Amino acid sequence: MDYAKALVIVRSSSLEDITELCERIRNAPYSVLDIGSAYGIWPVNQLIEGTRLDGTFYVANEINPRITQAAIDRAVSKLDEDQLERIAFLTYDARELPESLNGLFDEITINYPWEEWSAMEEEYKGGDSFADYLAYNSKARNLFNLLKEGGVIRVTLHPGRTELSFLIMDNLRPGCRNAVSLLLPDHIDSEKGYHYQDEYGTPSISLSFYK
Ligand SMILES: C[S@@+](CC[C@H](N)C(=O)[O-])C[C@H]1O[C@@H](n2cnc3c(N)ncnc32)[C@H](O)[C@@H]1O
Repeated sequence: MDYAKALVIVRSSSLEDITELCERIRNAPYSVLDIGSAYGIWPVNQLIEGTRLDGTFYVANEINPRITQAAIDRAVSKLDEDQLERIAFLTYDARELPESLNGLFDEITINYPWEEWSAMEEEYKGGDSFADYLAYNSKARNLFNLLKEGGVIRVTLHPGRTELSFLIMDNLRPGCRNAVSLLLPDHIDSEKGYHYQDEYGTPSISLSFYK
């Protein structure tokens, strides 16, 4: 298996690795950080479908190294060499990302489909789940530091998580210039992109926060 093209960064990686990652992000015409990426299904699918500008660089962030490894294996099996040069895997707690990443991203995505975030996170952290962090902790507004001016944080929530969406909206809105809450026409599934509708036709919730 050829991992050479995909940049893999874990907590113990050297400063040079982080510097190289920053360089790659800076050189890209558009950059996306996918927080809690799990098996990397969302960014890999975006790369395949070419949903953003040509040359867009994706950083798939995940707290659990076991899941990151599975995400890398999956990406290597799905992407060609050029696409693999446009994705990096970052095993970090999203609450503690290196400050050198500040100001580098056009877009941050946080996709909530399916499982509870806390379930897989539990083995690595006690205390608040990432969902609680976004909903209640004012430090969550530090995520705006990772964005360029005018950048956007997009949170996509499973249909039915209306209460969580209100809490996230209340918590993050004070940190941004403009915020938009939408019911999407479809139920979004990371793997099936925008082409999937569940049997009840329930729409996903999309929250956008503009820096
Ligand atoms: C429900 S899954 C996300 C699904 C994925 N975004 C998708 O759409 O396919 C939540 C993931 O977030 C990860 N996670 C939880 N807390 C995190 C944190 N503080 N930092 C980074 N990742 C975290 C979990 O390990 C889990 O893999």
